[in-house]
Amino acid sequence: MSDNKANLTIGGASNDYAIMDGTVGPQVIDVRKLYAQTGMFTYDPGFTSTASCDSGLTYIDGDAGVLLHRGYPIGQLAEQSSFMEVCYLLLNGELPSKKELADFVNTITRHTMVHEQLTTFFRGFRRDAHPMAIMCGVVGALSAFYHDSTDINDPEQRKIASHRLIAKMPTIAAMAYKYSVGQPFVYPRNDLSYTANFLRMTFSVPAEEYEPDPVIVDAMDKIFILHADHEQNASTSTVRLAGSSGANPFACIAAGIACLWGPAHGGANEAALNMLREIGTVDKIPEYIARAKNKDDPFRLMGFGHRVYKNYDPRATVMQKTAKDVLAKLGVSDPIFDVAKELEQIALNDPYFIEKKLYPNVDFYSGVILSAIGFPTEMFTVLFALARTVGWVAQWNEMISDPAQKIGRPRQLYTGPTERDYVPVEKR
Ligand code: CMC
Repeated sequence: MSDNKANLTIGGASNDYAIMDGTVGPQVIDVRKLYAQTGMFTYDPGFTSTASCDSGLTYIDGDAGVLLHRGYPIGQLAEQSSFMEVCYLLLNGELPSKKELADFVNTITRHTMVHEQLTTFFRGFRRDAHPMAIMCGVVGALSAFYHDSTDINDPEQRKIASHRLIAKMPTIAAMAYKYSVGQPFVYPRNDLSYTANFLRMTFSVPAEEYEPDPVIVDAMDKIFILHADHEQNASTSTVRLAGSSGANPFACIAAGIACLWGPAHGGANEAALNMLREIGTVDKIPEYIARAKNKDDPFRLMGFGHRVYKNYDPRATVMQKTAKDVLAKLGVSDPIFDVAKELEQIALNDPYFIEKKLYPNVDFYSGVILSAIGFPTEMFTVLFALARTVGWVAQWNEMISDPAQKIGRPRQLYTGPTERDYVPVEKR
């Protein structure tokens, strides 16, 4: 807590509000007593100026393009670490020792199978259902299967639920894909890494084994790391809000998946690739840039701009390099990648994008990589959900463990009718 106070004078009455310090980043004004003292609320639709909690997980400096998990820069984690290690870090606060990591990987690996009865759930969906629709339903349904890990007041049960969610998400995601293409489900294999296992469950068929290529496994692992957590974004805030009422973790994560589905959030990678495909060739780029700048046209450059980053998204830097590696390894010369690179260059030098501080975000290049690996666009957001599960779970745990935690309950500026008398239908 800083010694400084923010003073607010309304109609002659003056009140002081404490200014709180984090370890780094902007200070916040503690307005918890504002309503009691002034009878007024703050007004902040979209929460652009509101901190909803304190958190020790992830730090973002949007102006400088910095993203840290538990203090470690995302670039270092993506280049030197593994997704399992980042999961441990987010859940436990510190990087694991060799033994801790081995134990953690062993635990996650041994939770990858899903209850056999869960497979019947999939058959209730239409084959052409969007896999995110399936994910919302099936992940929510986990609470009907794992009753021994839904008591949120028991830290051990919370830990088991967290491990289950991280472990089962790839299995469920791969099943959603298999169901949509009419292929049999593939069971997990414990001798493979988390990421190789997921790729195999997605791409192998009984008639032909899939040998995960180390370059592709590494790229996929990086994509998972880059999406693991991102502070109080829309889906994470949704998970926290759902969890604040005491809902069980499986239901909360299903709520997060629903929020992530939207095109302004997790759905943007799908939208970005569709946009690049629509542009198709470099000569069409100026036309789309003009559309993005036209106020009367709702078109936006997908994969560009971010609520928090007003600089190059540090995740996009890793993503661009990974796209290059994957395409080189697969020997693919994808014209979409050329369109993406050229579009980026043109936008970065255009006054409209410079003034509004619009830079490529994590989604700009991820679609190019995922498509080269063989994922259909509908699966992109599912992969985001898979990777973000650890962030959701870690944030949910942090919230539940906080003794000051309260149910999330925003207020409003009421603009509806004032009180009036009911009129019977025959008199209307
Ligand atoms: N293309 C063209 N103009 C844009 C874009 C864009 N992609 N993004 C923002 N703008 C303009 C916008 O029209 C507005 O202009 P003006 O001030 O003249 O009205 C200004 O920039 C500010 O936009 P905003 O919508 O108020 O900004 P926001 O912080 O509310 O929105 C955003 C952030 C990510 C929703 C938005 O930039 C966007 O829609 N981007 C495209 C979708 C996208 O790539 N989303 C992925 C985000 S990263 C993944 C994740 O974290 O989920």
